[in-house]
Amino acid sequence: MIETKQKAADPCVMVIFGATGDLTKRKLFPALYYLAKDGFLPENFAIIGVGRQELSGASFRKQIISDLKSFIGKDVDRKLVKWFEDRTYYTGGDFDDDKALFSDIKNLLDEVTNTHEIPKNYFYYMAIPPFLFSNVANKIVKNGLGKQDEGFWRRFIFEKPFGKDLESAKKLNSELLEILEENQIYRIDHYLGKETVQNILVFRFGNSIFEPIWNRNYVDHVQITVAEDLGVGTRGGYYDKAGALRDMVPNHIFQLITLTAMEPPVSFEADAVRDEQAKILQAIQLFSPEDVLNKTVRGQYDENEINGESLKAYRDVENVPANSNTETYAALKLSIDNWRWAGVPFYVRTGKRMPKKHTTILIQFKKAPFMLFRDTEIDHLTTNRIVLHIQPDESITLHFGAKIPGPLVKMGTVDMDFDYSEHFGETVSTGYERLLYDCMVGDATLFQRADMVEASWCVVSPILDVWEALPARNFPNYKAGTWGPKEADELLESDGHKWKNNID
Ligand SMILES: NC(=O)c1ccc[n+]([C@@H]2O[C@H](COP(=O)([O-])OP(=O)(O)OC[C@H]3O[C@@H](n4cnc5c(N)ncnc54)[C@H](OP(=O)(O)O)[C@@H]3O)[C@@H](O)[C@H]2O)c1
Repeated sequence: MIETKQKAADPCVMVIFGATGDLTKRKLFPALYYLAKDGFLPENFAIIGVGRQELSGASFRKQIISDLKSFIGKDVDRKLVKWFEDRTYYTGGDFDDDKALFSDIKNLLDEVTNTHEIPKNYFYYMAIPPFLFSNVANKIVKNGLGKQDEGFWRRFIFEKPFGKDLESAKKLNSELLEILEENQIYRIDHYLGKETVQNILVFRFGNSIFEPIWNRNYVDHVQITVAEDLGVGTRGGYYDKAGALRDMVPNHIFQLITLTAMEPPVSFEADAVRDEQAKILQAIQLFSPEDVLNKTVRGQYDENEINGESLKAYRDVENVPANSNTETYAALKLSIDNWRWAGVPFYVRTGKRMPKKHTTILIQFKKAPFMLFRDTEIDHLTTNRIVLHIQPDESITLHFGAKIPGPLVKMGTVDMDFDYSEHFGETVSTGYERLLYDCMVGDATLFQRADMVEASWCVVSPILDVWEALPARNFPNYKAGTWGPKEADELLESDGHKWKNNID
């Protein structure tokens, strides 16, 4: 029995399609464990794993519980593990078969809801390859398991990627909206499960001192960096079909942009927040083919040797063609055409095999208007910036100028830091806890709506079209372990700016 310290979610059954996969093992079960540990799961709760492998419930439980124990480590709470063991089930079969697997699921749902006295609230987690999303949702609905009624709900979480371009995202949305209500669809972007990402809203709208300067009158430009030090590892086959732009920009990076740039919502209701986010996505200036040439940069990493370690070129990764033209780096200069942001460039970049794992949003403010210190040793003024560090460390830094002590007027730059873990203590989380909980309580604020997904692809698809029509001729064009191709530096230099790389 778990102790309920907080408001526990609604009693329900979670049905995971793709329960034998990596996401279930590394994220979903650990996230459920942490939720239960903090009292956020109801006592009347069960999990049904669904996969294509014919496994017995016992062998699925054995595997998943052993994975959970090794994930949590020595502090694992054995009573809690047992609690999960008692309410985890499995059924397997052919996803293409209209009947057999889905009637097994139906029978199992009847059994577990009886056993654990759960009302018929179900949420389906699609931890499966995206090409199966619509097909599986269809079969759930056809078998009478998708319709909500008075007294119980049915919700569907779809993993990313949601479409691979505008056309496929529209098709998927329309297929799902034919069988489900929009309020049943939860398009997940796990970036929004991160505390710092959620804190952007609190930082901006829970304080009165930042909002007055958060606009074109004070902000010179914004830089968003989502850098990874790792290469593509064993995911070469998947990654080569996606590339950096598809993999990171229409989802994670655009979420960061919308939270940074949106107007204050009228409330924290899901649609009030998402309406404001959607307006930002619609205000991003679309690229003409010429803009794609002038305002975007793509790159692919080459081999390199760093501190005695040799790093392979992308083209040498397993399952990546030796002549691959897939980008592992993308940088864009975006404009948001609205009253608040007109004329303020938003530079964004993302890449694999960069010097460090590092996600930041940097708000660069304009220079002070008047050089008061002309006759002193200060020959240039530092500019102010606020940096929201999203990962690996979650913190916020304000950068400003201060007088260096001494008889002369000399200026130094200093940082004021707020560090999440120093202040609030370390919290262990996978980033999925909040999102799973929100789905169970019916709060879709942190999930993408159909119009947001399509507005994102409207921006990205024209870039992909030009990149596909004109394959890069200079790949590989940056060395593994560096900050990307020189063209990305030039993109900012032509505006008199520079990427800020070392802002720990
Ligand atoms: N892993 C992550 O950290 C992560 C992060 C973000 C998004 N995602 C998304 O989450 C989803 C699942 O990712 P994953 O990493 O868990 O993938 P995975 O390890 O490849 O597992 C996918 C699951 O789907 C099943 N599956 C694969 N092909 C199938 C088919 N044709 N018919 C029926 N079942 C099939 C697999 O069954 P078998 O075990 O039998 O192969 C497995 O249970 C994907 O949409 C992915 O893009 C994953």
